[in-house]
Amino acid sequence: MARTKSSNTDAPNFDPLARAYRWMEYLSFGPMLERCRFHFLQQCVHARHALILGDGDGRFTARLFAANPGVQVTAVDASAAMLATLRCRVERISPQASARLQTIHADLRRFTPIEGPYDLVVSHFFLDCLTDEEVDGLIERIAPHLTADATWLISEFTIPGKGWQRPVARLLIRFLYFAFSRITGLRVQQISDYGAALGRHGFYRSEQGQFLARILTAELLKINNL
Ligand SMILES: C[S@@+](CC[C@H](N)C(=O)[O-])C[C@H]1O[C@@H](n2cnc3c(N)ncnc32)[C@H](O)[C@@H]1O
Repeated sequence: MARTKSSNTDAPNFDPLARAYRWMEYLSFGPMLERCRFHFLQQCVHARHALILGDGDGRFTARLFAANPGVQVTAVDASAAMLATLRCRVERISPQASARLQTIHADLRRFTPIEGPYDLVVSHFFLDCLTDEEVDGLIERIAPHLTADATWLISEFTIPGKGWQRPVARLLIRFLYFAFSRITGLRVQQISDYGAALGRHGFYRSEQGQFLARILTAELLKINNL
């Protein structure tokens, strides 16, 4: 049985989206977000303890358990409804997976891990919910709880540097922020420079995948221990 901790939060409220989230995604982007999210799954099959940030309805967590039944997962999200959906999804994988899952209901802008060390951190389409300062603070609080060989897996929307994709991506991202601000109360308006923040904390990009005309990026980051 998955363990749950909870706390009060004034974070954006994704509860109303929890049940429909997957279908809204399929209707708007088809399989593209999933391709991006699962692109580096095979690189996670040896992870021992994963910290999953803002995993929403738990599709990545469930796939991670299916690919790596020995992993222990701590999933943190500010949405109780998303976490409930995540736990149901993992329970369907197996009772063993459920026993290896801890869910924490918390605002990641203030969250500090108390356990670890984690050798895998995952943030799919979540760092875009934070400002530059909030991303920086989050990494600073998490970094002491990581192993020396930790990997950080990221999926994000990006604005390509040139080409017709650039204005299309700008428009799409502006629309998404508008929609999420209306539905969830999200106040952030632009994608944080999470790459720079991770770089300041010793992470470098080891692999990258691009999807949907370079508007979606999957990144695998490692810690530089030199
Ligand atoms: C856009 S959804 C992404 C969900 C999932 N990772 C995916 O790949 O689709 C953002 C998720 O982050 C959570 N979230 C947003 N801001 C948060 C915060 N400040 N603290 C904790 N969770 C937050 C939301 O509740 C939601 O589940």
